[in-house]
Amino acid sequence: MSEPLLAIHDLQLSFPVFQGEVHALNRVSITVHRGEIVGVVGESGSGKSVTAMLAMRLLPANSYRINGGSVRLLGADALNASEKEMCRLRGAKVAMIFQEPMTALNPTRRIGQLMTEVIRQHQRLSAREAQQKAIALLTEMQIADAPQVMKRYPFELSGGMRQRVMIALAFSCEPELIIADEPTTALDVTVQRQVLRLLKQKARASGTAVLFISHDMAVVSQLCDRLYVMYAGAVIESGKTQQVIARPAHPYSVGLLRCAPEASEPRAELPAIPGTVPNLTALPTGCAFRERCFAADEQCRQTPTLSPCGGEQQLAACWHPQREQRHV
Ligand SMILES: Nc1ncnc2c1ncn2[C@@H]1O[C@H](COP(=O)(O)OP(=O)(O)O)[C@@H](O)[C@H]1O
Ligand SMILES: [Mg+2]
Repeated sequence: MSEPLLAIHDLQLSFPVFQGEVHALNRVSITVHRGEIVGVVGESGSGKSVTAMLAMRLLPANSYRINGGSVRLLGADALNASEKEMCRLRGAKVAMIFQEPMTALNPTRRIGQLMTEVIRQHQRLSAREAQQKAIALLTEMQIADAPQVMKRYPFELSGGMRQRVMIALAFSCEPELIIADEPTTALDVTVQRQVLRLLKQKARASGTAVLFISHDMAVVSQLCDRLYVMYAGAVIESGKTQQVIARPAHPYSVGLLRCAPEASEPRAELPAIPGTVPNLTALPTGCAFRERCFAADEQCRQTPTLSPCGGEQQLAACWHPQREQRHV
């Protein structure tokens, strides 16, 4: 198999703060291969956005400290590459979709200007060709009357429409990888489902790989081939989506799935597992989930490592992996 598009290996990252250090990523390993749709799921504060921002090297340079590990993005060493090299990768080969497109879309520009500018930055096309390409992309996102939408300003569009424009924009440079951080969280459930379907269709049709981040297990399971479950800055389970959904091994994954009983139905509510995420400035030794876990015992004071737990390629960091089969 060729080199992964994204290979995060054993990454340890902290934010120095007044009270000490926020250990935001604790030995995170995540890979995305060409053409794969990979999910990262976990509650708020589990380190999903920090992972995505670091992969693109978009965290403010002096705000964080790398304490170990490596990140390779399209063959480049993303922790040490020059800013020039990172700029070349961002936009041309890797694109990012954020949660709130209102902040990502320049409010003073019409959709058409925004799109043709981005397209022409990366491709040698005439203004007219860029215009045609923009219309084709918007039409693929099932935006009716794309030429009219091109004349609108972002604030004139609905949230779902803006997010489809963001997706069209992300695909406009024909990237090899798209990193999407909670792209549909602000949308209602029906619109969310449509946008996800369009994203998946377009990714499959163009062979673009996607790293898709969400707090919602239902959304991730609808979209992704493989997934990583994060908790307190660590990957605590990973595997093929179908396997993890059918037989979640880590009690935390079991909890996330209980909060999304129909794993193929996106839901508006947030997951609710009793308790809260531990303080990342003073993580206890041992399993970070043990205080909230129904299966915890004395052994959980030792730190578990990701280990095979049944399904092919399925790994869980748990002393007491669950065996229960779910009906999906
Ligand atoms: N600049 C920062 N300084 C200090 N702590 C931060 C900073 N950015 C993120 N964090 C902390 O890192 C942890 C992970 O954050 P994040 O990746 O945004 O979580 P998620 O996207 O999973 O909700 C959180 O505890 C957050 O408060
Ligand atoms: Mg986030």
